[in-house]
Amino acid sequence: MIDQATKIALAAGVILREKLEAGVSIEHKGRIDLVTDADRAAEAFIVQELRKVFPSHGILGEEGARIEGTSDYLWVIDPVDGTTNFAHGFPYFSVSLGLVKGDEVVLGIVHNPMSQECFVAERGSGAFLNGQKLSVSKQTTLEASLLTTGFPYDIATTDETNLKSFELVNKVSQGVRCLGSAALDLCHVASGRLEGFWERSLQPWDIAAGSLIVTEAGGQVTRCNGGSFSPLGHEICATNGQIHQELLHLLAIKG
Ligand code: IPD
Ligand code: CA
Ligand code: CA
Repeated sequence: MIDQATKIALAAGVILREKLEAGVSIEHKGRIDLVTDADRAAEAFIVQELRKVFPSHGILGEEGARIEGTSDYLWVIDPVDGTTNFAHGFPYFSVSLGLVKGDEVVLGIVHNPMSQECFVAERGSGAFLNGQKLSVSKQTTLEASLLTTGFPYDIATTDETNLKSFELVNKVSQGVRCLGSAALDLCHVASGRLEGFWERSLQPWDIAAGSLIVTEAGGQVTRCNGGSFSPLGHEICATNGQIHQELLHLLAIKG
């Protein structure tokens, strides 16, 4: 399954690059929540191709694809994770495909078509970047860690802004970046480039694939309050494992 799904993610990446070169047409889902014709075209392509090879599987896509399967498998798809970056031509976005069975992710693919980095994981078989095995970093303290996070699209109106956590973690670590693609952020934790990532107000298609890539690289994923992670949930705290408790402790402090 992983080879077939990886081919589909790579081909969707080609569509995104072509659309970016041809010029993107942008619409607003909300004040700062954008969608482009490329998001829709890539999702339509991914759904069509997945249906050909896995006709019994269900599908849940960010841009509206909903197919009830006749098996236990559900593909959770983000055709462009990092649409705001994509719309600005900032080369940090990804195609994210997660395969969920029950409450477990069994396969995850996150592909950055600009850097040509394709991260894949299959439950129990490790995580890989372009064929190279991945391991999380060995840093043991938050003080020596570099992290990333993100903010909700309704930051202007919600009380759950994440700004307090951002401030607290920033002050005790080597820095907190905000890069704009949760799926890629998770892959950087898996590859040991970053020690941790957390975000609230996410969607299953942002986190399903990347969560497995982190755990298969030896990392830890939970909810931001330390509870059990669910790929069909809305938040994630992902680390190399070593700094997990220290990070959770700060995330528990309300602003
Ligand atoms: C967004 C990205 C971003 C995160 C947002 C997500 P989208 O996904 O993952 O990093 O901060 O919360 O919604 O809208 O670009 O697919
Ligand atoms: Ca997304
Ligand atoms: Ca998206």
